[in-house]
Amino acid sequence: MTDVSNSGKLGEPLERLDGPAKVTGTARYAFEQPVDDPLYLHPLQADIARGRVVRIDTSPAEALSGVHTVLTHENAESLSSRVDVELAVLQSPEIGYRGQVIGAVVADTQEIAAHAAGLVEVTYERHPHDTVFRSDDEIVYTPDGSNPMIGEDLDRGDVDEALAAAEYAVDATYTTPAEYNNPMEPHATIAVWESAELTLYDSNQGSYTVRDMIAPTLGMDPQRVHVFAPHVGGGFGSKGVPHAHVMLAALAARKLEGRPVKCALSRRQMFSLVGYRPPTRQRVRLGADSAGRLTATEHSALEQTARVKEYAEQSASAARNMYVSANRRITNELAVLDVPVPTWMRAPGEAGGMYALETAMDEMALTCGVDPVEFRVRNEPERAPESGLPFSSRNLVSCLRQGAEMFGWNDRDPEPGVRRENGWLSGTGVAAATFPSFSIPGSKATIGYEPGGYYRVEIGAVDLGTGSRTALSQIAAEALEVPVEAVRLHLGSTEQPRASIAGGSSGTASWGSTIVQAAREFRAEHGAEPAEGAETTAEAAANPAAGEYAMNAYGAQFAEVAVNADSGEIRVPRMLGVFAAGRIVNARTARSQFLGGMTMGLSMALHEHGVLDGRFGHVVNHDLAGYHVAGNADVGSVEVSWLDEHDPHVNPMGIKGIGEIGIVGVAAAIGNAARHATGIRVRELPLTPEKFL
Ligand code: MOS
Repeated sequence: MTDVSNSGKLGEPLERLDGPAKVTGTARYAFEQPVDDPLYLHPLQADIARGRVVRIDTSPAEALSGVHTVLTHENAESLSSRVDVELAVLQSPEIGYRGQVIGAVVADTQEIAAHAAGLVEVTYERHPHDTVFRSDDEIVYTPDGSNPMIGEDLDRGDVDEALAAAEYAVDATYTTPAEYNNPMEPHATIAVWESAELTLYDSNQGSYTVRDMIAPTLGMDPQRVHVFAPHVGGGFGSKGVPHAHVMLAALAARKLEGRPVKCALSRRQMFSLVGYRPPTRQRVRLGADSAGRLTATEHSALEQTARVKEYAEQSASAARNMYVSANRRITNELAVLDVPVPTWMRAPGEAGGMYALETAMDEMALTCGVDPVEFRVRNEPERAPESGLPFSSRNLVSCLRQGAEMFGWNDRDPEPGVRRENGWLSGTGVAAATFPSFSIPGSKATIGYEPGGYYRVEIGAVDLGTGSRTALSQIAAEALEVPVEAVRLHLGSTEQPRASIAGGSSGTASWGSTIVQAAREFRAEHGAEPAEGAETTAEAAANPAAGEYAMNAYGAQFAEVAVNADSGEIRVPRMLGVFAAGRIVNARTARSQFLGGMTMGLSMALHEHGVLDGRFGHVVNHDLAGYHVAGNADVGSVEVSWLDEHDPHVNPMGIKGIGEIGIVGVAAAIGNAARHATGIRVRELPLTPEKFL
């Protein structure tokens, strides 16, 4: 082990405690867990977008040496679809989207399983399918207002009247494409059955979430399902809930009586089996008075959902509380299609929604003749516009001002298309970022005092690669008033006390509050010099301030863009993000979170675009050869900064989530910079070269 010489105090840039294990390859990810005599599973996926399987001949596959079984709807055990229809695999011959699981081959090796999958002969009855995202009445509906992601539509004042009376108006429609979660570690699971108990070594964002969903689907007592995720190579939301492959592995392992079954999805399989950010079409209408104050805000979002299961992206939600505006209308509609089920992907809703809103804000700033930074400052609300609640802290203006200073914004010439050097047009752009700050109650932590003077801290949270293990160790050390070296944190599995999901940027706040509570109770019970074996388990109380303040993190994104005047090629040599996200627990891992979010925002702005072929219902560019994710060569200078923000209301540590806000606003800042460079306003992501010609 290397000597971790830096301090573990809260805020210090402590190196990742699991860093050496990760870079030396000794940290074990799901698929690498040692199990005896494993078999390998390859999912069978539907080749049509809608219809039913009328015949599935598995005999050629079963005849292949090394094949142990082929699961299909004809031989699968019955499952409950109450928790999640996606998990209730192989319950009927019906096909709702191309790529849907219709079976699985289990064999001695991954290669045999994959080969045998190609030998299964499937006869389909084809039904007409509809997979093209658009705004036709026949596919558009308003989701139930009880949908927890989006809430009720909002209609305050009279938007139409205010727009008609406005001195300045913007009415623009923006589109964002399907984008796909591509964590470094693809989804993988190992299922082991022993004595009627199921153990899953699974790459996920919440081992308890996996247990809570898998157990009832199988009709099992949750206590008999054990889930381990000691190390996870990213997820971005797609690992927030278990997907079909986890259930396939569990079913196969049960059928094969004691042989562990391993399943690692390929990139291609991930494009239909683990969710994606759905395409959106968003209309934003803004009205402003002669002083550049917004009088009307309308944000109408249309997003894609799947016929087999509703998923509602909350694209218009950020506009509910972002800027002043007496009249506002916020609506969400869904277009239901025969497509794979969308899911969360880093800042689901805010990422796409703030692209639209913050581009419209730039358009309005230009229309009003006000500097885009100044325009946002001018429209800063004193209280949360929708709820009327005070903000627990809101330092967007400081982020904008400090960012403008650092970025060199202040002497910017607003004239578009005039900075030209060696055939490249350059420009700068800005956008605001926001993401809600919340904690999920109900997590528990155990603290025990161990021989040798160590504090054992246990919490069943998953570190999906963000650095939670390290940040939580620092929080525990501070709460116990001991050096971080005296803390030994155990996390990642259902063997530790229940913890909430690593999602919604809520992890560190939720688990940290729990650990702080456990530390307080431990000290109250056992004092500063506890006896060996002393132990306390505690649950954090719900935050009493949660309903009294609007709680969000904020940020300002700045980008410099160069667009080639002849080819339209677009490059981003420089980005700066300044964030106000409460107290920062670990300066090193926090910087990585912001940096990673901003890089993903750059990727969203310039590259990511899942192309669906409406004739067949599949994603044409369904791998990393065709679906480009920003690589090193695409990324210029990315600078991250944050304010020293003190928020006494969010939680006992004063911290806000930082996992998602980094991506928010980046695409708008880049698009706004491209407009400044070229004079061309592109309202369609990604910002590809042909759009600037
Ligand atoms: Mo995040 S999209 O809540 O994993």
